[in-house]
Amino acid sequence: MKSTTAAITAVGGYVPEDVLSNQDLEKMVETTDEWITTRTGIKERRILKDKDKGSSYLGVKASEELINKSGVDPESIDMVIFATATPDMPVAASASYLATKIGAKNAFSYDLMAACSSFLYGMSTASAYIESGRYKKVLLVGADKMSSIIDYQDRATCIIFGDGGGAVLFEPDEEGMGLQDEILRTDGNGRDFLKIDAGGSIMPASHKTVDERKHYVFQDGRTVFKFAVSNMAGVSEQIMKRNELSAASVDHLVAHQANKRIVGATAARMNLEPEKVLMNIQRYGNTTSATLPLLLSDYESKLKKGDNIIFATFGGGFTWGSIYLKWAYNSN
Ligand code: UT7
Repeated sequence: MKSTTAAITAVGGYVPEDVLSNQDLEKMVETTDEWITTRTGIKERRILKDKDKGSSYLGVKASEELINKSGVDPESIDMVIFATATPDMPVAASASYLATKIGAKNAFSYDLMAACSSFLYGMSTASAYIESGRYKKVLLVGADKMSSIIDYQDRATCIIFGDGGGAVLFEPDEEGMGLQDEILRTDGNGRDFLKIDAGGSIMPASHKTVDERKHYVFQDGRTVFKFAVSNMAGVSEQIMKRNELSAASVDHLVAHQANKRIVGATAARMNLEPEKVLMNIQRYGNTTSATLPLLLSDYESKLKKGDNIIFATFGGGFTWGSIYLKWAYNSN
């Protein structure tokens, strides 16, 4: 076993106040509460209505909650990683703005983009910096203002996504807690099925791209669903086998909240009892980079020191993976 492991020592979460319910969506597109609930498990999501605020705002609020709860001195943070699919701006790093806003003035920072797997990959990156001994305090923030890239005329996507942010602090641990193992994967053939066509270097913004609504998320839901189920369940089962974890020894599944049925299929493959599966999709929808830290934030009081947690995600790219982590503390 490695002598120093990377443990999560604090969490914070934030969702904006404004609620967009299934009933609201029934008035906007051809859909029903019944269809959305049975196909996805979502009842409502939160929307950041303030036009002047971007994803960094959600990340700042989540980080501030973490700082207030844990008492960590922002000036002691070495590094800030901002996992997001919706940076404030295409070029200026949102992470830098966020770090400055929370007073992490001795930190360096950067954005990490891997669609819905951004936060999971960020857990790997943050842990590697800690395990190597290079840094002592790494703040990993996941936040997305998905409402800024969703077409509210497209019923196939607008019912799914919501806005939110979450944050965790990684620190060295000498008791063997924290990240134990990871399986991270990508498949670039997946990019035709979940993407935004315009605004990047292939198709820069133009009047035409705006007229053709090409700056919004496009998803071939059925194809993504198929790949999500087989890949997310596959790596979660694999990481259990590799670490000789039985279903009884896994305490919690923290899975990307893309669809209740995808999470259910993953849990079934792992033979997990439903009460071990952390869920909040019904309240927030799919918040992309924020789903994992928002689960940790919502369920923090139920997590006990030494608990075995399996994290799993699947997202655009395609990107997916699973992480096995031992929880490091009991919250008050
Ligand atoms: O987070 C990143 C990864 N993303 C995911 O993991 C999402 C994966 N995909 C999904 O979760 C599901 O595919 C969706 C929730 C997006 C869609 O559910 P589905 O059961 O796969 O539905 P579908 O796309 O196969 O559509 C079934 C029917 C279609 O009608 P026809 O062709 O059977 O007549 C759709 O036009 O449902 C129709 N439909 C809707 N009906 C009412 C699609 N969207 C809606 C809607 N309300 N909002």
